[in-house]
Amino acid sequence: MRVIMLSPPGAGKGTQGERISVRYGVPHISSGEIFREETARQTPLGKRLSSYLDRGDLVPDDLVLSLIKDRVVAAARQSGGYVLDGFPRTLEQAEAAAEIGRETHTSAQAVVYLDAPKDVLISRLAGRGESRADDSEAVARHRLEVYAEHTQPLVDYYAARGILVKVDAGSPVDVVSEDIFSALDRIKD
Ligand code: AP5
Repeated sequence: MRVIMLSPPGAGKGTQGERISVRYGVPHISSGEIFREETARQTPLGKRLSSYLDRGDLVPDDLVLSLIKDRVVAAARQSGGYVLDGFPRTLEQAEAAAEIGRETHTSAQAVVYLDAPKDVLISRLAGRGESRADDSEAVARHRLEVYAEHTQPLVDYYAARGILVKVDAGSPVDVVSEDIFSALDRIKD
């Protein structure tokens, strides 16, 4: 199964991406997790990344690709599948992801688009158990603005390619999972 998760912050990409990974036995690749691991190491690259993450701004496309591309290619080649969580996030990244898919003959089969009302998203981010530096209300609101400007256009991009699966992410976690699985189960591998 080859899936891209697309959603505003707090809608559940990480939560549902992990569940999809387990159900279909494919690697879960989270760009945010990869970047946070690097920032935790306090390397020069990590410090550069945290200057974007802490503000809730996007990491520049060339830097994202230099850190993510090899992992996606390796997952695609080794397991034939993937769940991409947080990548792609701009139209440029979407074009790069499409190119990777063509090169490795592993184009995405579905883009799971999760959405929920803004107040629900803000309260989920504020209430996250393990606190994240970018979950303060001001930064969370900025992340939602950045999403609206740079990532929301991908909804139309993937809808035009016929692979968008829209799911209401305002429901309880298990209900959202069931909705996703019933849509993905209909897709032939
Ligand atoms: P990233 O880590 O991708 O964060 P995000 O998109 O802001 O999303 P979150 O992780 O906050 O939310 P989520 O949708 O995954 O929801 P989750 O399952 O965690 O990116 C972080 C930063 O990295 C970006 O701001 C940017 O700087 C940089 N970055 C990453 N990728 C990039 C890229 N490709 N290009 C450029 N920059 C990039 O759930 C949130 C909370 O809600 C949890 O507490 C969860 O338990 C709860 N929850 C989830 N679902 C439900 C539900 N159905 N009901 C109730 N609670 C729920």
